[in-house]
Amino acid sequence: MTDATPVTPEQTPDTQEAQDLAARGSNRSQRPDSDAFKAFITSGWAPRAQLDVEPLPAAPFTAARRAALSARFPGSRLVVPAGPLKTRSNDTDYRFRPHSAFAHLTGYGTDQEPDAVLVLHPVEPGTGDGGSAHHAVLYVRPLAARDTEEFYADSRYGEFWVGVRTSLDDVATATGVEARHVDELRDALAKDVGPGGVTLLVVAGADEAVEALVEAIRAEAGLDDVAEETQELTEAEWLARAEAAYRRTDAALVEAVSELRLVKDAHEVEQMREAVDATIAGFEEVVRNLPRAVEHRRGERVIETTFDAHARLEGNTVGYETIAAAGEHATTLHWIRNDGVVRTGELVLLDAGVEVDSLYTADVTRTLPVDGEYTEVQRRVYQAVLDAADAAFAVAVPGARFRDVHAAAMEVVAARLEEWGLLPVSAAESLSPEGQQHRRWMVHGTSHHLGLDVHDCAQARRELYLDGVLEPGMVFTIEPGLYFKADDLTVPEEYRGIGVRIEDDVLVTADGNENLSAALPRRAEDVEAWMRRLRD
Ligand code: GLY
Ligand code: MN
Ligand code: MN
Repeated sequence: MTDATPVTPEQTPDTQEAQDLAARGSNRSQRPDSDAFKAFITSGWAPRAQLDVEPLPAAPFTAARRAALSARFPGSRLVVPAGPLKTRSNDTDYRFRPHSAFAHLTGYGTDQEPDAVLVLHPVEPGTGDGGSAHHAVLYVRPLAARDTEEFYADSRYGEFWVGVRTSLDDVATATGVEARHVDELRDALAKDVGPGGVTLLVVAGADEAVEALVEAIRAEAGLDDVAEETQELTEAEWLARAEAAYRRTDAALVEAVSELRLVKDAHEVEQMREAVDATIAGFEEVVRNLPRAVEHRRGERVIETTFDAHARLEGNTVGYETIAAAGEHATTLHWIRNDGVVRTGELVLLDAGVEVDSLYTADVTRTLPVDGEYTEVQRRVYQAVLDAADAAFAVAVPGARFRDVHAAAMEVVAARLEEWGLLPVSAAESLSPEGQQHRRWMVHGTSHHLGLDVHDCAQARRELYLDGVLEPGMVFTIEPGLYFKADDLTVPEEYRGIGVRIEDDVLVTADGNENLSAALPRRAEDVEAWMRRLRD
């Protein structure tokens, strides 16, 4: 990697003595500081080529999403940061990924746009964007001119280092949102904030610097505890007004941007289909590469890198760290070290998802026989998990509750474990809240919402998530499993070291559901036939 030392004038022995630690990074290289160099490097460039910026395909949908958020917060200024670049080590950063709420509300994906902040400014209800109660503005750090130091010297933002950034006009064309320089953010946030005026709310967890700025503005305006007024309320008033007070907290905004994604719009569903299709192609690549995995001392890495290379080629990247778990590693739920051997005769559990450029991700698991054929006991466990998944699919329809999906899977799991003589109590006792012994072999849940985050909508209220009612447009996983650890003395030896999970991505439709990942075989014999076909 090219040395990204901030460029500083050459140190003399005298100044080095007083140099503080933060500046030491400049000791390994020198930047020319002469006027002649500055004049030369900032001149002699051809006019900038016009970028071919088109409106983002998501733009018509993001306007509706912002309007829905606006309706929940009349009179509040809503601050949605993309987030900053994050340090990986010393002075090198991770590849940028915007916060999911920012991506959802702007349509931006891939690595766009570090330090940008979407602000929904409150206006007279009905006079805002699309007749809403807010006007959206995107504050961005635009492309610096070529006669600036940033152009050639700024290793985080400079065109010489990270490429051409978009101009304000390009941002507005792409997103359909007014774009302004991020230097205007402070004044724009502070306008009319104060008691009886505008309330300032920020999506917490995205950008500490923006949160600190919001805190400082609140403190200056005498609004540093926006929830304080609830302490003054009588009990009779409390219920009605507590909700209104809560709606003026950052927590309520975080909850709202999460709940806004519970039901996907048509563009989101299309993106999910693309993510799932790319993921299925990645699984096929892995099957073709399994013989190489068996030969390599870290065969799990062959699987991981095969899938991850495919994800980078066909999408943005993986939606989460790939789990490539061979043999007993499959009983470790989030095995991502992936440094084990892959042995014939064993199973390999691959849990992986391609995140497409819009940042929507699939989340799919198949548990494959390394040599293409399940043993009798592997097949028995596999079939139980598949039956649990099918039972879950059968109830995942509009009007059912989210928790019913898990319950249906657990009934099958408990029944099979009872049948095999593994449960210390009856299946019925195990299924009761006081029992739950069957969960020893499946400690995770059966489903989670899926979208921009692999565990999407995580800040939604329980009544809308676990206790929520399924609606067309919801997308979630169905992923039962059974995991028998190698040292589990409560199960017969033949089960020990077997871990099976089958995970599909489900779209609730008007009259039932659609398995978005149905093109990836699920039944044991179909998996075997599919593997034979890919490896012939
Ligand atoms: N891959 C994480 C999960 O299945 O939830
Ligand atoms: Mn999952
Ligand atoms: Mn998964």
